[in-house]
Amino acid sequence: MSKPRKSIHGEWSSRFTFILAATGSAIGLGNIWKFPYIAGENGGGAFVFVFLICVLVLGLPLIIAEVAIGRYGRQNPINSISNIVEENKSHPMWAVTGWLCLLSGFIIFSFYSVISGWVFSYGLQMGLGTFQNISPDDSIKIFNQFLSQPWTLLFWHSLFSLLTLLVVAKGVQTGIEKAVEILMPVLLILILTLLAYALSTGKFMEGLRFMFDFDFSKLTGESILIAMGQAFFTLSLASGAMMIYGSYLPRGISIPKACFMIAAADTAIAILAGLAIFPIVFAHGLEPASGPGLIFQTLPVAFGNMFGGQVFGALFFMLLLLAAFTSAISMIEATVAWLVENHDMTRNKASLLGGLGAWLLGLGTLLSFNLWSGKTLFGKNFFENIDYLVTNIMMPLGGILIALFASWVMSKHSILNELGIKEGPGFWVWRVSAGLIAPVLVLLVFFHSIEFF
Ligand code: PHE
Repeated sequence: MSKPRKSIHGEWSSRFTFILAATGSAIGLGNIWKFPYIAGENGGGAFVFVFLICVLVLGLPLIIAEVAIGRYGRQNPINSISNIVEENKSHPMWAVTGWLCLLSGFIIFSFYSVISGWVFSYGLQMGLGTFQNISPDDSIKIFNQFLSQPWTLLFWHSLFSLLTLLVVAKGVQTGIEKAVEILMPVLLILILTLLAYALSTGKFMEGLRFMFDFDFSKLTGESILIAMGQAFFTLSLASGAMMIYGSYLPRGISIPKACFMIAAADTAIAILAGLAIFPIVFAHGLEPASGPGLIFQTLPVAFGNMFGGQVFGALFFMLLLLAAFTSAISMIEATVAWLVENHDMTRNKASLLGGLGAWLLGLGTLLSFNLWSGKTLFGKNFFENIDYLVTNIMMPLGGILIALFASWVMSKHSILNELGIKEGPGFWVWRVSAGLIAPVLVLLVFFHSIEFF
């Protein structure tokens, strides 16, 4: 396999568009839905502090590694990694890394699309006033009823998948780049608008305290592992996303600098999201719930009972939808690129086929909440099983392999060339973080999260 000098899918027009696209990938449900809550639960400011350290010592070296492998290989993750393996005459087993990443992105897309479908529907219902003056009990009833209707869920899941694949089919510059150029500024405006709304509730300080008060008593060993897992997921690592986006990055752009900006923007949005959500929850005297409960049960009650809640609630779900959309694009792009490069398909055909495959797999998730809710394997339904497989097993393993691969298997000359630096302290900081600290940390998360131990 020879290495092309440029990806056949084209390149980002500028460093800025790459940063927009990669930040769009990073900012997703993980930032707006998960981060605020886990921060509040695990010791507020103390947790945010630990999370920042995890981003610096684990997330940043790994995202740099992925983008560098992508730009060096100039193809989909499977080919890029196989090329390096061949070039260095390393053990062929390393090629598994590319497969793990590509499959992880594909599988995450399948369930992300189903859940983003819920967001779609909730945004619309919020705008139409369905949640006006509802009680917490009503809210739970509405949510359960919604989940019990497979055809409704199918409609929203299909619509979300279709829209994502339409963008992907249009290609790197005319599809993905155009989409993020329009959507990312809208996302920023939406989050600032919601922040202003949160300020007007009079409960801003309470929200600020919930997220930032240093409470070391709540910061356990477990919280540290949670912070590492979150740093990993929020930067879209080990899913092929950053690697494929890296393969479209023009030469001459500094990877470490660009990655630093992506990690900083991603973290800033996660913090702003928390500052926007909690005052709204507290304004109505509600308790912040975890997981799907916060977004689909608690927030509709809060918005439904507040002045202007109908409009701002709809804007909130729109924000969530945009964040999910730009992430979903990056999850499936590697699969589409692989179909084009290895199976000689046009981009349209590859998007259709890749999208159809992920959509079909998504049906398993969709049915897990209704018709198949009783069907379990290892005590988990279909959705819980694939979520577990990908987030607790495939992604950590992929992450460890990428870290070791970039730092020890790829030749020093090639990696220095990609990072645009000389062998000096900067390189060694990266190499020790990516090649030693990151794999050990991810291994800890891995052993912690798999249930056999
Ligand atoms: N980073 C995204 C989020 O925080 C999730 C994601 C994972 C996106 C993997 C792309 C690839 O929600």
